[in-house]
Amino acid sequence: MDPQIVHTADFVEEAVGLIVAAAREAIAERGQFRLSLSGGNTPKPVYQALAARTDVDWSKVLITFGDERCVPPDNAQSNYRMAREALLDHVPVPSGQILRLKGEMPPGEAAREYEQALASFGEPVFQHDLILLGMGDDGHTASLFPGTAALQETRRMVVENYVPKFLVYRLTFTYPLLNAARQVAFLVNSSGKEHVLSRVFDGSGDFPSTRVQPTSGRLTWLLGGGL
Ligand code: 6PG
Repeated sequence: MDPQIVHTADFVEEAVGLIVAAAREAIAERGQFRLSLSGGNTPKPVYQALAARTDVDWSKVLITFGDERCVPPDNAQSNYRMAREALLDHVPVPSGQILRLKGEMPPGEAAREYEQALASFGEPVFQHDLILLGMGDDGHTASLFPGTAALQETRRMVVENYVPKFLVYRLTFTYPLLNAARQVAFLVNSSGKEHVLSRVFDGSGDFPSTRVQPTSGRLTWLLGGGL
């Protein structure tokens, strides 16, 4: 399925609308909305605006995280902390339905524990209703950075990934998990990524983001900031 590329001057509103529509459809059809949150800076205002919506049945939402830094949950670098402060502290998602990647644990142990949690749903590959992703100016997404080992993972759903660029380990979803989703939405709203975006879209660049190709799901790129 070809990606849907949406250029918008109302980035936050459009992103929130996309999430709420996906939630409504998933809950109506399956009684649950499995939403994976991305980290970084772009999604924070989207999460804040989403928290203000009154038309989401949060009791039926399951939250996962597409990647995490290997830091404690109260660390300023934690994607969980950002999502908690912007969204999760303000909406009534049952705590048992927030699956946090435990950045404070040894990376391999945290990845295996998370993978077991997803596997406990009994599906060959856990299927999200919507995975939100960002993209870096090097074309990385989640914590799938150029040249790193996790790019080659074809079996596991969640792995620890050493990122030489930062001399750290990260926890990240892999392509098998990403591409099993019913919908993946990239949210990109900052300049400096135009050159990568054009090469992702025309297929001339083999960036980690290029290889997010949902097997049977929808792929949406929501581009703000004049992109
Ligand atoms: C992270 C994110 C990462 C992010 C991109 C874009 O942990 O940092 O998962 O993949 O989405 O780096 O970040 P910005 O939205 O801040 O540009």
